[in-house]
Amino acid sequence: MQAVAPSNRLFALAFVVGALAAHAQSRPVMVEDVLKDVRFLKGISVNEFMDTMGFFSASTGRSCNYCHVEEAGGNWALYASDHPNKTKARAMIAMVNGINKQYFGGRRVLTCYSCHRGGERPLVTPSLTELYSTPAIAEPDKLVTGGPESPTVDQVLDKYIKAVGTPLPGFIANGTQQGYANATKMPVEVFAKAPNQRSFIVHTPEGDSTNTFDGRNGWLAAPATDRPITLTALAGDQLEGARLDAALAFPSQIKQTLKQWRVIFPATIGDQDFTVLQGVMSTTTDGRLPVNLYFDPETGLLTRSVRYADSPIGLSPTQTDYADYRDVAGAKVPFKITVTWLDGRSVTQFTDVQANAAVDAARFARPVAPAVAKP
Ligand code: HEC
Ligand code: HEC
Repeated sequence: MQAVAPSNRLFALAFVVGALAAHAQSRPVMVEDVLKDVRFLKGISVNEFMDTMGFFSASTGRSCNYCHVEEAGGNWALYASDHPNKTKARAMIAMVNGINKQYFGGRRVLTCYSCHRGGERPLVTPSLTELYSTPAIAEPDKLVTGGPESPTVDQVLDKYIKAVGTPLPGFIANGTQQGYANATKMPVEVFAKAPNQRSFIVHTPEGDSTNTFDGRNGWLAAPATDRPITLTALAGDQLEGARLDAALAFPSQIKQTLKQWRVIFPATIGDQDFTVLQGVMSTTTDGRLPVNLYFDPETGLLTRSVRYADSPIGLSPTQTDYADYRDVAGAKVPFKITVTWLDGRSVTQFTDVQANAAVDAARFARPVAPAVAKP
Protein backbone atom coordinates (compact mmCIF):
# COMPACT_ATOMS: atom_id res chain seq x y z
CA MET A 1 0.00 0.00 0.00
CA GLN A 2 1.19 3.49 -0.82
CA ALA A 3 2.13 5.78 2.01
CA VAL A 4 -0.40 8.37 2.98
CA ALA A 5 1.48 11.60 3.50
CA PRO A 6 0.16 13.55 6.47
CA SER A 7 2.32 16.46 5.33
CA ASN A 8 -0.61 17.29 3.08
CA ARG A 9 -2.38 18.32 6.21
CA LEU A 10 -0.09 21.22 6.92
CA PHE A 11 -2.10 24.34 6.58
CA ALA A 12 -1.43 28.01 7.04
CA LEU A 13 -4.96 29.01 7.98
CA ALA A 14 -7.79 28.01 10.19
CA PHE A 15 -11.46 28.78 10.02
CA VAL A 16 -14.10 29.20 12.70
CA VAL A 17 -11.52 28.43 15.32
CA GLY A 18 -12.22 31.15 17.84
CA ALA A 19 -15.97 30.71 17.90
CA LEU A 20 -15.59 27.12 18.96
CA ALA A 21 -13.74 27.47 22.21
CA ALA A 22 -17.05 27.67 24.05
CA HIS A 23 -18.27 24.30 22.79
CA ALA A 24 -15.06 22.61 23.74
CA GLN A 25 -15.65 22.97 27.45
CA SER A 26 -18.65 20.77 27.84
CA ARG A 27 -19.15 18.60 24.78
CA PRO A 28 -17.18 17.56 21.74
CA VAL A 29 -17.39 19.77 18.66
CA MET A 30 -19.78 18.08 16.21
CA VAL A 31 -19.62 17.93 12.41
CA GLU A 32 -22.67 20.20 12.14
CA ASP A 33 -20.94 22.88 14.24
CA VAL A 34 -18.08 23.48 11.81
CA LEU A 35 -18.09 21.60 8.54
CA LYS A 36 -19.80 23.09 5.49
CA ASP A 37 -20.98 20.36 3.16
CA VAL A 38 -21.27 17.01 4.88
CA ARG A 39 -24.13 14.95 3.50
CA PHE A 40 -23.62 11.45 4.91
CA LEU A 41 -21.22 11.47 7.86
CA LYS A 42 -23.38 13.55 10.19
CA GLY A 43 -24.19 13.33 13.88
CA ILE A 44 -20.62 12.52 14.87
CA SER A 45 -17.83 14.54 16.46
CA VAL A 46 -15.28 16.31 14.28
CA ASN A 47 -12.63 13.99 15.74
CA GLU A 48 -14.59 10.92 14.62
CA PHE A 49 -15.09 12.58 11.23
CA MET A 50 -11.34 13.10 10.87
CA ASP A 51 -10.81 9.44 11.80
CA THR A 52 -13.17 8.55 8.96
CA MET A 53 -11.09 10.66 6.55
CA GLY A 54 -8.04 8.73 7.74
CA PHE A 55 -10.00 5.54 7.05
CA PHE A 56 -10.73 6.73 3.48
CA SER A 57 -7.06 7.57 2.93
CA ALA A 58 -5.88 4.24 4.30
CA SER A 59 -8.49 2.27 2.32
CA THR A 60 -7.60 3.88 -1.01
CA GLY A 61 -3.88 4.23 -0.20
CA ARG A 62 -3.97 7.91 -1.12
CA SER A 63 -3.57 11.17 0.73
CA CYS A 64 -6.23 13.81 1.33
CA ASN A 65 -5.76 15.56 -2.02
CA TYR A 66 -6.87 12.44 -3.90
CA CYS A 67 -10.44 13.48 -3.08
CA HIS A 68 -9.95 17.15 -2.19
CA VAL A 69 -8.77 20.14 -4.22
CA GLU A 70 -5.02 20.77 -3.98
CA GLU A 71 -5.54 24.24 -2.44
CA ALA A 72 -7.34 22.69 0.55
CA GLY A 73 -3.83 22.04 1.86
CA GLY A 74 -3.78 25.67 3.01
CA ASN A 75 -7.37 26.25 4.02
CA TRP A 76 -9.78 23.94 5.87
CA ALA A 77 -12.83 25.60 4.29
CA LEU A 78 -11.74 24.40 0.85
CA TYR A 79 -12.23 20.78 1.91
CA ALA A 80 -15.91 21.52 1.30
CA SER A 81 -15.21 22.10 -2.43
CA ASP A 82 -16.27 19.49 -4.95
CA HIS A 83 -13.81 17.07 -6.52
CA PRO A 84 -14.61 14.13 -8.87
CA ASN A 85 -13.19 11.56 -6.44
CA LYS A 86 -15.05 13.13 -3.54
CA THR A 87 -18.27 12.78 -5.53
CA LYS A 88 -17.31 9.18 -6.33
CA ALA A 89 -16.53 8.52 -2.67
CA ARG A 90 -19.98 9.83 -1.68
CA ALA A 91 -21.56 7.41 -4.15
CA MET A 92 -19.43 4.67 -2.58
CA ILE A 93 -20.69 5.56 0.93
CA ALA A 94 -24.26 5.20 -0.34
CA MET A 95 -23.36 1.89 -2.03
CA VAL A 96 -21.70 0.47 1.09
CA ASN A 97 -24.60 1.55 3.32
CA GLY A 98 -27.04 0.04 0.82
CA ILE A 99 -25.24 -3.33 0.62
CA ASN A 100 -24.89 -3.59 4.39
CA LYS A 101 -28.58 -2.81 4.76
CA GLN A 102 -29.87 -5.05 2.00
CA TYR A 103 -27.63 -8.08 2.44
CA PHE A 104 -26.27 -7.98 5.98
CA GLY A 105 -29.21 -6.84 8.09
CA GLY A 106 -27.72 -3.37 8.55
CA ARG A 107 -24.56 -4.67 10.23
CA ARG A 108 -21.49 -2.76 9.11
CA VAL A 109 -19.61 -5.75 7.72
CA LEU A 110 -18.63 -4.28 4.33
CA THR A 111 -16.32 -1.27 4.45
CA CYS A 112 -14.19 0.66 1.91
CA TYR A 113 -11.24 -1.46 2.95
CA SER A 114 -13.06 -4.76 2.20
CA CYS A 115 -12.72 -4.01 -1.51
CA HIS A 116 -9.99 -1.38 -1.84
CA ARG A 117 -7.33 -2.92 0.46
CA GLY A 118 -5.16 0.19 0.21
CA GLY A 119 -5.55 0.69 -3.55
CA GLU A 120 -7.39 3.20 -5.74
CA ARG A 121 -9.15 0.50 -7.69
CA PRO A 122 -10.00 -2.87 -6.19
CA LEU A 123 -8.14 -5.76 -7.81
CA VAL A 124 -9.99 -7.95 -10.25
CA THR A 125 -7.62 -10.91 -10.42
CA PRO A 126 -6.31 -12.90 -7.43
CA SER A 127 -2.56 -12.36 -6.98
CA LEU A 128 -0.55 -15.58 -7.32
CA THR A 129 2.32 -14.03 -5.36
CA GLU A 130 0.05 -13.24 -2.43
CA LEU A 131 -1.62 -16.60 -2.64
CA TYR A 132 1.65 -18.47 -2.18
CA SER A 133 3.38 -16.20 0.33
CA THR A 134 3.04 -16.34 4.13
CA PRO A 135 -0.02 -14.31 5.09
CA ALA A 136 0.50 -11.47 7.57
CA ILE A 137 -1.15 -12.00 10.97
CA ALA A 138 -4.43 -10.10 10.99
CA GLU A 139 -4.92 -7.92 14.06
CA PRO A 140 -8.09 -9.22 15.77
CA ASP A 141 -10.68 -6.42 15.78
CA LYS A 142 -13.29 -8.59 17.52
CA LEU A 143 -13.27 -10.39 20.83
CA VAL A 144 -11.70 -13.79 20.26
CA THR A 145 -13.05 -16.87 22.03
CA GLY A 146 -11.37 -20.19 22.68
CA GLY A 147 -7.76 -19.12 23.11
CA PRO A 148 -5.06 -21.35 24.65
CA GLU A 149 -5.43 -22.54 28.27
CA SER A 150 -1.86 -21.75 29.18
CA PRO A 151 -0.56 -19.32 30.23
CA THR A 152 -3.53 -17.86 32.09
CA VAL A 153 -4.42 -14.16 32.10
CA ASP A 154 -3.31 -13.87 35.75
CA GLN A 155 0.05 -15.48 35.02
CA VAL A 156 0.77 -13.00 32.21
CA LEU A 157 -0.43 -9.93 34.13
CA ASP A 158 1.28 -10.91 37.40
CA LYS A 159 4.53 -11.43 35.53
CA TYR A 160 4.13 -8.00 33.93
CA ILE A 161 3.38 -6.24 37.23
CA LYS A 162 6.40 -7.95 38.79
CA ALA A 163 8.66 -7.09 35.85
CA VAL A 164 7.71 -3.41 36.08
CA GLY A 165 8.69 -3.28 39.76
CA THR A 166 7.91 -0.52 42.25
CA PRO A 167 4.68 1.30 41.27
CA LEU A 168 5.34 4.99 40.51
CA PRO A 169 2.95 7.49 42.12
CA GLY A 170 3.46 9.84 39.18
CA PHE A 171 6.13 11.04 36.81
CA ILE A 172 7.34 13.90 34.63
CA ALA A 173 9.03 12.99 31.37
CA ASN A 174 10.92 15.03 28.80
CA GLY A 175 12.08 14.07 25.35
CA THR A 176 11.44 14.56 21.66
CA GLN A 177 8.84 13.49 19.13
CA GLN A 178 9.27 12.90 15.46
CA GLY A 179 6.34 12.66 13.05
CA TYR A 180 5.94 10.38 10.08
CA ALA A 181 7.65 11.75 6.93
CA ASN A 182 8.92 14.65 9.02
CA ALA A 183 12.51 14.84 10.18
CA THR A 184 11.99 17.67 12.68
CA LYS A 185 12.31 16.60 16.30
CA MET A 186 9.91 18.47 18.55
CA PRO A 187 10.21 18.78 22.34
CA VAL A 188 7.78 16.64 24.34
CA GLU A 189 6.64 16.88 27.97
CA VAL A 190 4.51 14.29 29.76
CA PHE A 191 2.90 14.69 33.18
CA ALA A 192 1.26 11.64 34.74
CA LYS A 193 -0.28 10.77 38.07
CA ALA A 194 -1.57 7.40 39.30
CA PRO A 195 -4.00 5.86 38.75
CA ASN A 196 -4.95 7.43 35.42
CA GLN A 197 -4.22 11.11 34.85
CA ARG A 198 -1.98 12.11 31.98
CA SER A 199 -1.11 15.14 29.90
CA PHE A 200 1.04 14.69 26.79
CA ILE A 201 2.33 17.92 25.25
CA VAL A 202 4.21 18.25 21.96
CA HIS A 203 5.72 21.67 21.27
CA THR A 204 5.29 21.84 17.49
CA PRO A 205 6.56 24.81 15.43
CA GLU A 206 2.89 25.75 14.81
CA GLY A 207 1.89 25.65 18.49
CA ASP A 208 1.39 23.11 21.27
CA SER A 209 -0.44 19.87 20.64
CA THR A 210 -1.89 18.63 23.96
CA ASN A 211 -3.68 15.41 24.85
CA THR A 212 -5.05 15.50 28.38
CA PHE A 213 -7.04 13.03 30.48
CA ASP A 214 -7.93 14.16 34.01
CA GLY A 215 -9.29 10.82 35.25
CA ARG A 216 -12.78 11.49 33.84
CA ASN A 217 -12.66 13.95 30.97
CA GLY A 218 -10.26 14.27 28.07
CA TRP A 219 -9.37 17.00 25.60
CA LEU A 220 -7.38 17.39 22.46
CA ALA A 221 -5.84 20.78 21.71
CA ALA A 222 -3.90 21.04 18.46
CA PRO A 223 -2.60 23.79 16.18
CA ALA A 224 -4.90 24.99 13.40
CA THR A 225 -2.46 23.52 10.89
CA ASP A 226 -3.29 20.06 12.22
CA ARG A 227 -7.04 19.96 12.94
CA PRO A 228 -10.03 22.02 11.73
CA ILE A 229 -10.76 22.80 15.40
CA THR A 230 -8.07 23.71 17.89
CA LEU A 231 -9.69 22.50 21.11
CA THR A 232 -12.32 19.86 21.71
CA ALA A 233 -13.51 17.61 24.50
CA LEU A 234 -13.09 13.91 23.74
CA ALA A 235 -16.07 11.56 23.71
CA GLY A 236 -16.93 7.95 22.98
CA ASP A 237 -14.14 5.62 21.92
CA GLN A 238 -11.65 8.47 21.74
CA LEU A 239 -12.27 9.33 25.38
CA GLU A 240 -11.90 5.62 26.19
CA GLY A 241 -8.61 5.58 24.29
CA ALA A 242 -7.30 8.51 26.34
CA ARG A 243 -8.39 6.74 29.52
CA LEU A 244 -6.55 3.57 28.44
CA ASP A 245 -3.34 5.40 27.50
CA ALA A 246 -3.33 7.16 30.85
CA ALA A 247 -4.01 3.95 32.80
CA LEU A 248 -1.33 1.96 30.94
CA ALA A 249 1.26 4.41 32.31
CA PHE A 250 0.56 2.79 35.72
CA PRO A 251 0.75 -1.00 35.22
CA SER A 252 0.04 -2.01 38.82
CA GLN A 253 -3.64 -1.18 38.10
CA ILE A 254 -3.79 -3.08 34.85
CA LYS A 255 -6.18 -5.83 36.00
CA GLN A 256 -8.85 -3.21 36.76
CA THR A 257 -8.20 -1.25 33.57
CA LEU A 258 -9.87 -3.82 31.32
CA LYS A 259 -12.58 -6.46 31.83
CA GLN A 260 -13.48 -9.72 30.03
CA TRP A 261 -9.78 -10.59 29.93
CA ARG A 262 -8.65 -13.54 27.81
CA VAL A 263 -5.44 -14.95 26.36
CA ILE A 264 -5.96 -15.05 22.61
CA PHE A 265 -2.80 -16.40 21.01
CA PRO A 266 0.93 -16.73 21.11
CA ALA A 267 2.27 -14.78 18.10
CA THR A 268 5.57 -14.38 16.33
CA ILE A 269 6.15 -11.06 14.59
CA GLY A 270 9.48 -10.76 12.80
CA ASP A 271 11.68 -12.94 14.96
CA GLN A 272 10.07 -12.06 18.28
CA ASP A 273 7.53 -14.10 20.27
CA PHE A 274 4.58 -12.53 22.05
CA THR A 275 1.72 -13.57 24.28
CA VAL A 276 -1.37 -11.65 23.24
CA LEU A 277 -4.13 -10.80 25.70
CA GLN A 278 -7.46 -9.21 24.98
CA GLY A 279 -9.87 -7.27 27.12
CA VAL A 280 -12.48 -4.57 26.80
CA MET A 281 -12.39 -1.18 28.47
CA SER A 282 -14.02 -1.45 31.86
CA THR A 283 -16.05 1.72 31.37
CA THR A 284 -17.80 0.71 28.14
CA THR A 285 -20.99 -1.25 28.59
CA ASP A 286 -21.41 -2.87 25.21
CA GLY A 287 -18.06 -4.68 25.24
CA ARG A 288 -17.80 -4.73 21.47
CA LEU A 289 -14.37 -3.37 20.77
CA PRO A 290 -11.34 -5.23 22.05
CA VAL A 291 -8.02 -3.92 23.27
CA ASN A 292 -5.15 -6.21 22.26
CA LEU A 293 -2.07 -6.26 24.49
CA TYR A 294 1.21 -7.89 23.42
CA PHE A 295 3.59 -9.11 26.12
CA ASP A 296 7.16 -10.31 25.72
CA PRO A 297 7.16 -13.82 27.26
CA GLU A 298 10.87 -13.47 28.17
CA THR A 299 10.86 -10.15 30.05
CA GLY A 300 7.13 -10.13 30.84
CA LEU A 301 6.92 -6.48 29.69
CA LEU A 302 4.19 -4.89 27.57
CA THR A 303 5.45 -4.26 24.05
CA ARG A 304 2.33 -3.22 22.15
CA SER A 305 -1.27 -2.16 22.62
CA VAL A 306 -3.88 -1.93 19.87
CA ARG A 307 -7.22 -0.24 20.43
CA TYR A 308 -10.09 0.73 18.14
CA ALA A 309 -12.37 3.71 17.68
CA ASP A 310 -15.66 3.29 15.88
CA SER A 311 -16.66 5.52 12.96
CA PRO A 312 -19.70 5.38 10.68
CA ILE A 313 -17.60 3.75 7.97
CA GLY A 314 -15.25 1.41 9.81
CA LEU A 315 -12.97 0.90 12.79
CA SER A 316 -9.87 3.04 13.27
CA PRO A 317 -7.05 1.16 14.96
CA THR A 318 -4.37 2.88 17.06
CA GLN A 319 -1.24 0.88 17.78
CA THR A 320 1.22 1.89 20.49
CA ASP A 321 4.62 0.21 20.70
CA TYR A 322 6.60 0.41 23.94
CA ALA A 323 10.37 -0.10 23.84
CA ASP A 324 13.66 0.93 25.45
CA TYR A 325 12.50 0.11 29.00
CA ARG A 326 14.76 1.78 31.58
CA ASP A 327 14.83 1.95 35.34
CA VAL A 328 13.17 4.96 37.05
CA ALA A 329 13.11 4.85 40.86
CA GLY A 330 12.82 1.05 40.85
CA ALA A 331 10.22 0.89 38.06
CA LYS A 332 10.71 -0.13 34.43
CA VAL A 333 9.45 2.65 32.16
CA PRO A 334 9.33 2.55 28.33
CA PHE A 335 11.49 5.43 27.02
CA LYS A 336 10.47 4.91 23.38
CA ILE A 337 6.79 5.09 22.44
CA THR A 338 5.70 4.74 18.83
CA VAL A 339 2.07 5.47 18.01
CA THR A 340 0.71 4.43 14.62
CA TRP A 341 -2.77 5.26 13.31
CA LEU A 342 -4.44 5.20 9.90
CA ASP A 343 -2.89 8.37 8.55
CA GLY A 344 0.12 9.00 10.71
CA ARG A 345 2.83 7.83 13.05
CA SER A 346 4.79 9.51 15.84
CA VAL A 347 7.93 8.34 17.60
CA THR A 348 8.51 9.72 21.09
CA GLN A 349 11.88 9.22 22.74
CA PHE A 350 12.23 10.26 26.36
CA THR A 351 15.61 11.50 27.51
CA ASP A 352 14.62 11.98 31.10
CA VAL A 353 11.85 10.53 33.32
CA GLN A 354 11.56 11.61 36.95
CA ALA A 355 9.34 9.89 39.50
CA ASN A 356 7.11 12.56 41.03
CA ALA A 357 4.40 12.03 43.63
CA ALA A 358 3.04 15.56 43.54
CA VAL A 359 2.36 16.53 39.93
CA ASP A 360 0.29 19.73 40.04
CA ALA A 361 -3.44 19.04 39.44
CA ALA A 362 -3.51 22.03 37.06
CA ARG A 363 -1.46 19.93 34.63
CA PHE A 364 -4.56 17.82 33.95
CA ALA A 365 -7.01 20.68 33.51
CA ARG A 366 -8.59 21.46 30.14
CA PRO A 367 -5.78 22.74 27.90
CA VAL A 368 -5.83 26.13 26.23
CA ALA A 369 -6.46 26.28 22.46
CA PRO A 370 -3.21 27.15 20.67
CA ALA A 371 -3.10 30.63 19.20
CA VAL A 372 -4.14 30.82 15.56
CA ALA A 373 -1.10 31.37 13.32
CA LYS A 374 -1.32 34.50 11.19
CA PRO A 375 -1.37 33.79 7.44
C1 HEC B 1 -11.52 8.64 -0.82
C2 HEC B 1 -11.86 10.05 -0.76
C3 HEC B 1 -11.45 10.92 0.40
C4 HEC B 1 -10.22 11.03 1.00
C5 HEC B 1 -8.94 10.24 0.69
C6 HEC B 1 -10.32 12.08 2.00
N1 HEC B 1 -11.58 12.60 1.99
FE1 HEC B 1 -12.25 14.18 3.11
N2 HEC B 1 -14.13 13.96 2.32
C7 HEC B 1 -14.50 12.96 1.43
C8 HEC B 1 -15.94 13.00 1.27
C9 HEC B 1 -16.77 12.06 0.40
C10 HEC B 1 -16.41 14.06 2.07
C11 HEC B 1 -17.88 14.47 2.26
C12 HEC B 1 -18.55 13.48 3.21
C13 HEC B 1 -20.06 13.63 3.28
O1 HEC B 1 -20.65 14.35 2.48
O2 HEC B 1 -20.64 12.98 4.18
C14 HEC B 1 -15.24 14.66 2.69
C15 HEC B 1 -15.27 15.77 3.54
C16 HEC B 1 -14.17 16.31 4.18
C17 HEC B 1 -14.19 17.48 5.05
C18 HEC B 1 -15.41 18.34 5.34
C19 HEC B 1 -15.40 19.59 4.50
C20 HEC B 1 -16.64 20.45 4.77
O3 HEC B 1 -16.47 21.50 5.43
O4 HEC B 1 -17.73 20.06 4.36
C21 HEC B 1 -12.92 17.65 5.55
C22 HEC B 1 -12.44 18.74 6.51
C23 HEC B 1 -12.11 16.59 4.99
N3 HEC B 1 -12.90 15.81 4.17
C24 HEC B 1 -10.78 16.42 5.28
C25 HEC B 1 -10.01 15.36 4.78
C26 HEC B 1 -8.63 15.13 5.17
C27 HEC B 1 -7.82 16.00 6.14
C28 HEC B 1 -8.22 14.01 4.50
C29 HEC B 1 -6.87 13.30 4.60
C30 HEC B 1 -6.57 12.73 5.91
C31 HEC B 1 -9.34 13.56 3.68
N4 HEC B 1 -10.41 14.40 3.88
C32 HEC B 1 -9.29 12.47 2.85
C33 HEC B 1 -13.66 12.10 0.77
C34 HEC B 1 -12.32 11.90 1.06
C1 HEC C 1 -17.94 -3.63 -3.06
C2 HEC C 1 -16.60 -3.15 -3.33
C3 HEC C 1 -16.30 -1.68 -3.01
C4 HEC C 1 -16.46 -1.04 -1.83
C5 HEC C 1 -16.98 -1.60 -0.52
C6 HEC C 1 -15.98 0.31 -2.03
N1 HEC C 1 -15.55 0.48 -3.30
FE1 HEC C 1 -14.74 2.17 -4.10
N2 HEC C 1 -14.60 1.25 -5.90
C7 HEC C 1 -14.92 -0.06 -6.16
C8 HEC C 1 -14.61 -0.38 -7.54
C9 HEC C 1 -14.80 -1.74 -8.20
C10 HEC C 1 -14.10 0.82 -8.12
C11 HEC C 1 -13.59 1.04 -9.54
C12 HEC C 1 -14.74 1.36 -10.44
C13 HEC C 1 -14.23 1.58 -11.87
O1 HEC C 1 -13.14 1.10 -12.21
O2 HEC C 1 -14.93 2.28 -12.59
C14 HEC C 1 -14.11 1.82 -7.06
C15 HEC C 1 -13.71 3.13 -7.22
C16 HEC C 1 -13.60 4.07 -6.22
C17 HEC C 1 -13.12 5.42 -6.39
C18 HEC C 1 -12.72 6.06 -7.72
C19 HEC C 1 -11.40 5.55 -8.20
C20 HEC C 1 -11.15 5.96 -9.63
O3 HEC C 1 -9.97 5.99 -9.99
O4 HEC C 1 -12.13 6.19 -10.36
C21 HEC C 1 -13.13 6.02 -5.16
C22 HEC C 1 -12.69 7.44 -4.82
C23 HEC C 1 -13.64 5.05 -4.22
N3 HEC C 1 -13.92 3.88 -4.90
C24 HEC C 1 -13.81 5.26 -2.86
C25 HEC C 1 -14.43 4.36 -2.00
C26 HEC C 1 -14.76 4.66 -0.62
C27 HEC C 1 -14.44 5.96 0.11
C28 HEC C 1 -15.39 3.55 -0.13
C29 HEC C 1 -16.01 3.38 1.26
C30 HEC C 1 -17.06 4.32 1.59
C31 HEC C 1 -15.44 2.56 -1.19
N4 HEC C 1 -14.86 3.09 -2.29
C32 HEC C 1 -15.98 1.29 -1.04
C33 HEC C 1 -15.42 -0.99 -5.25
C34 HEC C 1 -15.73 -0.73 -3.93
